[in-house]
Amino acid sequence: VEDGMNNPSPEFTAILSDLKDDELAQQFKKALNKREGIVNLGGTSEISSEGTQHSISEQERIAFANYINSKLLSDPDCADVLPIDPNTEQLFKAVENGILLCKLINLSVPDTIDERTINKKKLTHFTIQENLNLALNSASAIGCQVVNIGALDLKEGKAHLVLGLLWQIIKIGLFADIELSRNEAIAALLEDGESLEELMKLSPEELLLRWANFHLKKVNMSISNFSGDIKDSLAYFHLLEQIAPDDCPVDTSGQYEADLSRRAELMLGQAERLDCRQFVTATDVVSGNSKLNMAFVATLFNKHPALAKPENQNWTPASETREERTFRNWMNSLGVSPHVHHIYGDLIDAIVILQLYEKTKVDVDWDNRVNLPPFKGIGGGHLKKIENCNYAVELGKDKAGFSLVGIAGQDLYDANETLTLALVWQLMRRYTLKILEDLGDKDGEAVGDDLIVTWVNDTLAQAGKTSSIKSFKDKSIGTSIPVLDLIDAIQPNSVNFDLVKKDVQSDEEKLDNAKYAISMARKIGAKVYALPEDLVEVNTKMVMTIFACLMGRGMKRA
Ligand SMILES: *[C@@H]1O[C@H](CO)[C@@H](O)[C@H](O)[C@H]1NC(C)=O
Ligand SMILES: *[C@@H]1O[C@H](CO)[C@@H](O)[C@H](O)[C@H]1NC(C)=O
Ligand SMILES: *[C@@H]1O[C@H](CO)[C@@H](O)[C@H](O)[C@H]1NC(C)=O
Ligand SMILES: *[C@@H]1O[C@H](CO)[C@@H](O)[C@H](O)[C@H]1NC(C)=O
Ligand SMILES: *[C@@H]1O[C@H](CO)[C@@H](O)[C@H](O)[C@H]1NC(C)=O
Repeated sequence: VEDGMNNPSPEFTAILSDLKDDELAQQFKKALNKREGIVNLGGTSEISSEGTQHSISEQERIAFANYINSKLLSDPDCADVLPIDPNTEQLFKAVENGILLCKLINLSVPDTIDERTINKKKLTHFTIQENLNLALNSASAIGCQVVNIGALDLKEGKAHLVLGLLWQIIKIGLFADIELSRNEAIAALLEDGESLEELMKLSPEELLLRWANFHLKKVNMSISNFSGDIKDSLAYFHLLEQIAPDDCPVDTSGQYEADLSRRAELMLGQAERLDCRQFVTATDVVSGNSKLNMAFVATLFNKHPALAKPENQNWTPASETREERTFRNWMNSLGVSPHVHHIYGDLIDAIVILQLYEKTKVDVDWDNRVNLPPFKGIGGGHLKKIENCNYAVELGKDKAGFSLVGIAGQDLYDANETLTLALVWQLMRRYTLKILEDLGDKDGEAVGDDLIVTWVNDTLAQAGKTSSIKSFKDKSIGTSIPVLDLIDAIQPNSVNFDLVKKDVQSDEEKLDNAKYAISMARKIGAKVYALPEDLVEVNTKMVMTIFACLMGRGMKRA
């Protein structure tokens, strides 16, 4: 057996070593065998320095309740559930009707949910279900893994599932700007001899650590994690001192307080003056809860990065395209591991691509054909990665029937953008169509574009709608009217046509309809990853996925 073949990744090992409880360990091993569901394990406990037992999920419950209170208290639509008393289980009641979740998603990724689609008044079982569909499908679309969680779990307020979902949503918002293309000043974190590309490959977690150390270096300190290394608050005191604006200097005298809890409280008092007291209590600092401390540090970064873009640098990093982001969100929502932050760089060992094959029902021979991380050997195990890439191309050609002319494993390993996207798109297309095929009769025809277009036309005609489409390139799709008509055909009277702009001319009007259409599709239960702009521009690929998802939704009804 080659090195690494039987070794789980460091991430897996870390999770495994955290699991003291046999039952949980069993559960994890099962999940590892199925290579999914790993994310949703929770409920472990740790002993705090005072010797009292704090369940991690209780610390999270308190932190998330406080965060939600601070962000949404002024929203009238949340008035009847906010503020949440963090010391009770109220949080789980507050998410039951879906409104709060929709608001939180929209806060993390602005403009994800069209306000007009949220049911707010006189809620019934049915309209609550719609809100929860909207929340869950929108959460998927921004890259949350929701495969193991359904509307019923939210309605019943299942604690570990709710906390898991909330953390994913909050983290996406917190990390949104910790990226070179969104904040060029991050280039100040370049180390000697490091290239910009190398810096761009770092995950937000790694960048945060790098950032903290960039500031701590000035006082000859460094940390290597957000748990053990921050428990004594010393690094925090110095970090706060470094990032504080000139007109708000930080008082660091609290670092001499001998009692760690009181010291942490004094430190948090200073963080409060910088408007950054968020996510952690003194207990969370002293117990070194790494998740919540990372969220705290991300808050510090977002409010007071205290970085300046190096002068003499005249590059502009390319920002992620809409298509890249949609593909990445799709992958992450399926729970691939590791999480994909950078669509090209994170696919070069093909591990994620192979998981996507598996999710699109192509058998992957993990035991005999795949080299698993960690990759050791010459050049970081590049030969092993290329072998994986070759296998990924082979599967596409031989098993999935993909068109991969001129694509070699080496191209994936080299992170060739065009060719990687070509493969990823075919995977997403296959995934979308497989769902449809599974809904249809088992020995039925393979689903293709024509079948979907015909179904769309038939469904529209049967419902007495006047719109129709000739293909996924049809210009009329840019108005979103065929999509809204189809939604209304699938679920009669769901669309409020008073809100729909007719005789659409400007792009602004088109976008308005498109936002409504995308949120409506998610609300009636279609897991749509595409964005409103894809409809406005009639982006053929994404348009196909929208109609295919709606067809899937329509067939479930039948
Ligand atoms: C979502 O965010 C956008 C932009 O921030 C805002 O205009 C809209 O009202 C928000 N909708 C909801 C449901 O919060
Ligand atoms: C950090 O360490 C260097 C080298 O040991 C020393 O010259 C410098 O004075 C130290 N700076 C501080 C702020 O302690
Ligand atoms: C954090 O890093 C320190 C070394 O800097 C190490 O001693 C400690 O074990 C680490 N803690 C965790 C939980 O990884
Ligand atoms: C990616 O592959 C295409 C097709 O082989 C090629 O034309 C292009 O130059 C490659 N891109 C890079 C950056 O190497
Ligand atoms: C859909 O309807 C349009 C308009 O009636 C028609 O031109 C087109 O051929 C139809 N396409 C399919 C595949 O049914």
